[in-house]
Amino acid sequence: MKYTFFTKSAAETTAFGSHIVNFLQAGDVITMTGDLGAGKTTLARGIASALKIEEKVISPTFNIMKCYFFGTIPLYHIDAYRLEDGNKDIGLEEYIEGDGICLIEWPQYIEELLPKERLEIRIINVGNDDREITLDSADSEHYAKIIQQLKEGL
Ligand SMILES: Nc1ncnc2c1ncn2[C@@H]1O[C@H](COP(=O)(O)OP(=O)(O)OP(=O)(O)O)[C@@H](O)[C@H]1O
Ligand SMILES: [Mg+2]
Repeated sequence: MKYTFFTKSAAETTAFGSHIVNFLQAGDVITMTGDLGAGKTTLARGIASALKIEEKVISPTFNIMKCYFFGTIPLYHIDAYRLEDGNKDIGLEEYIEGDGICLIEWPQYIEELLPKERLEIRIINVGNDDREITLDSADSEHYAKIIQQLKEGL
């Protein structure tokens, strides 16, 4: 299942991030692909805010991973950008299908570590503040259901 829509501002992308939380559960894995500045962290902020995480969410580029434990469920935010050529042993398996939601920026750099079942979000800057956002569940029934619910609700 695939679904593409557009946002016209960072606030709209954040609002989408918050909305998607209604359909997520612990153990879910979301990958976010898009160029530098596409809006991956902006979307992550919406997810964090709906999980009642008060800490400011920033790109964890230099730490690779940041964990937020003080929301309704844990949020594990991973940015694999710096793992392109490096050691990829970040213990990812602990967070996948774990007790929280796992969000991964630059998943292409750790492709071999990722579960096949995941919700892929691709963001393209189509000019100024416009972004094309595609949700893709690949062959996963679980994530196809989430996309279906989102489509109906958006
Ligand atoms: N429609 C939009 N959706 C998301 N962000 C937008 C939009 N319009 C403008 N922006 C701006 O684009 C920038 C997106 O930055 P963000 O840090 O979210 O990107 P990123 O994909 O995480 O980049 P990086 O790979 O460097 O971590 C922000 O400055 C945001 O305000
Ligand atoms: Mg980012």
